[in-house]
Amino acid sequence: MTELQLSTKHLLGIKYIQRSDIELILETTHQFKEIINRPIKKVPSLRDITIANLFFENSTRTRVSFELAEKRLSADTVNFSASASSVKKGETLLDTVNNILSMKVDMVVMRHPAVGAPMYLSRHINANIINAGDGTHEHPTQALLDAYSMMDKVGSLDGKKIAIIGDIVHSRVALSNIFCLTKLGAKVRVCGPPTLIPRHIESLGVEVSYDLDDTLRWCDIANILRIQLERQELKYFPSLREYHLHFGVSLERLEKLDKEIVIMHPGPINRGVEITSDAADSGQSIILQQVENGVAVRMAILFLLANRRDEKL
Ligand code: CP
Repeated sequence: MTELQLSTKHLLGIKYIQRSDIELILETTHQFKEIINRPIKKVPSLRDITIANLFFENSTRTRVSFELAEKRLSADTVNFSASASSVKKGETLLDTVNNILSMKVDMVVMRHPAVGAPMYLSRHINANIINAGDGTHEHPTQALLDAYSMMDKVGSLDGKKIAIIGDIVHSRVALSNIFCLTKLGAKVRVCGPPTLIPRHIESLGVEVSYDLDDTLRWCDIANILRIQLERQELKYFPSLREYHLHFGVSLERLEKLDKEIVIMHPGPINRGVEITSDAADSGQSIILQQVENGVAVRMAILFLLANRRDEKL
């Protein structure tokens, strides 16, 4: 297994890590993917490490993926769900986490609806923090598994044209993908209705389009994002039907292209809104490979961060 080290003791966001960190995580992922495809999938790498999975917001993929990654690495785990905790009685984030850490927890995986919650914790507690999604800010492990899945399919991302389509303004996946893909040398375009694209997003090194068909013709890979109705207090488009008409990816649209592009979606999918079932389930789609790769990516991140545990945090 690799001897190299990450430049960071926490994974708070892709913005805060270097291209060399991303490359080290993706190379280590490759080694773990081989391991979890063996008949005996478990390795003793994190045998003496205890990890708390703190989920203050709903999750299916990320939570199950982290739990599986931790079990495959032989870590001890404790799972915390805000809805069934003393958070409901008014306990603060810091008190909640300090109480859990006093039970000798080494690493914390945290999803929280507040932007910056993992950064705040990293300044107050003595454990490695992994951001599993903070509000509309970042979802770094999703971006890393997306990049790994893209490279698994098309090789190096240097110069590849990647479109991120849909609800960009509410999406932590979009922001982490933009940081990750531009660091890896890809050309990135965001596409969606003007109301769902943040102003000045070009300053992050991406281009903007409001034309789905032109974007599908342009790209090699389309990463399609969920319309996040739960984060939309305003009306950003007239109706879901109208959104689908202009920005819904369908097999009919894909078959009009003179090439086969790769279709991705981080999940959960609103079938029939941002993508139709025939496109999501088509041979061009790698949506389930993304989920599969998530376990190996998270094993790599946990393993590499655990290698930095002996240093002062
Ligand atoms: N992609 C993703 O974060 O899915 P979950 O919300 O189910 O974890």
